[in-house]
Amino acid sequence: MAIYTDLKEKTVLITGGASGIGAALVDAFAAQGAKVGFLDRDETAGAALSDALAAKGQQVRFVPVDLRDTERLRAGIETVRAELGGITVLVNNAAHDERHATEEVTEAYFDDRIATNFKHQFFASQAVLPDMKAAGGGAIICMSSISWMAGFGGMALYTASKSAVIGLIRSLARDFGPFNIRVNAVSPGWIMTQRQLDLWLTPEADAMRQERQALKQRLLPADVAKLALFLASDDARVITSQNYIIDGGWV
Ligand SMILES: NC(=O)c1ccc[n+]([C@@H]2O[C@H](COP(=O)([O-])OP(=O)(O)OC[C@H]3O[C@@H](n4cnc5c(N)ncnc54)[C@H](O)[C@@H]3O)[C@@H](O)[C@H]2O)c1
Repeated sequence: MAIYTDLKEKTVLITGGASGIGAALVDAFAAQGAKVGFLDRDETAGAALSDALAAKGQQVRFVPVDLRDTERLRAGIETVRAELGGITVLVNNAAHDERHATEEVTEAYFDDRIATNFKHQFFASQAVLPDMKAAGGGAIICMSSISWMAGFGGMALYTASKSAVIGLIRSLARDFGPFNIRVNAVSPGWIMTQRQLDLWLTPEADAMRQERQALKQRLLPADVAKLALFLASDDARVITSQNYIIDGGWV
């Protein structure tokens, strides 16, 4: 893994960092010597990851938060800021790809899916803006997905949220650019998190994946983390308002 010396001692905030791609992000930024705060509703997994990295001498702070509650999100960010310093890298990672049939969606479920998959990306970005302005710059990375580009069915509110992320980064990049704050999206293809392996990776699905990807190997959470490291680093200093697809050539 590349080492970006400018990430050392930076305060990085990652949402949904307790498991899956988020845990790989926490691990990768901590390995750069960054101070990593992460928010997640999974207290057990969050505490276990935090303990494991602290045992290696890395600087991590886990704050249990349900990101659907914007006041709790703001309080969690304040805790990270107070303990680790002003946040200059934000990775808006949390989401949940729960399947749903359109006929069964109630208004409450609709609001819940948008809150789970989109709303916190806006409010976390808003909350770190003063820190990044004060620091003279920063980087925000928002997780989208290829699911909406590939036209996946069975989770319309997830795919709608993930496409909304692209509109969000295009506008925030414009608004935050004068403060030297870069805002980009990352759109993963099928990434083999434990959850994906447990729930969806049947032999048939794996064969379909292989057929669709130009590159035939499975994509791993660490592959996504490496792209995020680059986008967060000064090596990407003039890259903003872009969406980076990391899917092995699926779409
Ligand atoms: N894994 C994939 O194949 C894939 C593909 C495309 C996009 N993505 C995107 O990458 C990101 C990470 O995906 P993943 O596969 O690691 O997901 P995951 O479901 O494995 O992990 C998501 C993490 O977010 C947390 N989380 C979810 N809702 C939360 C809430 N309301 N409050 C606090 N924490 C919450 C979960 O507890 C979990 O730790 C997501 O934005 C997802 O849309 C993943």
